[in-house]
Amino acid sequence: MTKTFEPLKFNIGGLNGISTKSIEEHLGLYAGYVKNFNGICELMGKLMADSEQNAIALSELQRRLSFEFGGMRLHEYYFKHLEGGPTPLTSGGALEQKMIEQFGSVDTTMKFIKNVGMMRGPGWSIMYYDAVSGNLMFGFSEEQHIGHFASLPIILALDVWEHTYILDYGAAGKGKYVDAFLANLNWQTCEKNFTEAQK
Ligand SMILES: [Fe+2]
Repeated sequence: MTKTFEPLKFNIGGLNGISTKSIEEHLGLYAGYVKNFNGICELMGKLMADSEQNAIALSELQRRLSFEFGGMRLHEYYFKHLEGGPTPLTSGGALEQKMIEQFGSVDTTMKFIKNVGMMRGPGWSIMYYDAVSGNLMFGFSEEQHIGHFASLPIILALDVWEHTYILDYGAAGKGKYVDAFLANLNWQTCEKNFTEAQK
């Protein structure tokens, strides 16, 4: 039987530039992804009893499954990044050293993250780590299930769907929101992801 999920709880305090109301509404959207993922799994299990008769419905649900899963899992990275308050990169730490080694500076690395975040369309700016090459990589996942680098673990996940900024900054406010997110980021969460990605 497929394991079902419960929405995780996040301890997010007051943020600079991202309102509590926006975070609350966003957490509600996250809970919807968890609910829908569970619901689709259950429905597909039933439809598989006659997979030939239900082939069309199963195909469409299959596509929805990774969309809902991506929405669930990516938001878990995202909200964890906002727990604990703004926390800088550890000076001399492994992630900072990797950024400097690969891109010359942390600032240049941040430019990649922001650049991808400013791409048009709903999606996510994601920094991955490829342990095979030792490279950090930047990706734009359209919606949340398309455009990932196969097998690469996620170091940083920045949600840039319109729902992240429209309440606080309006439809043209993505840039201000991206800056606010990065200013509130707990880099220790990224460092933890980086440590795990190297195992
Ligand atoms: Fe979101």
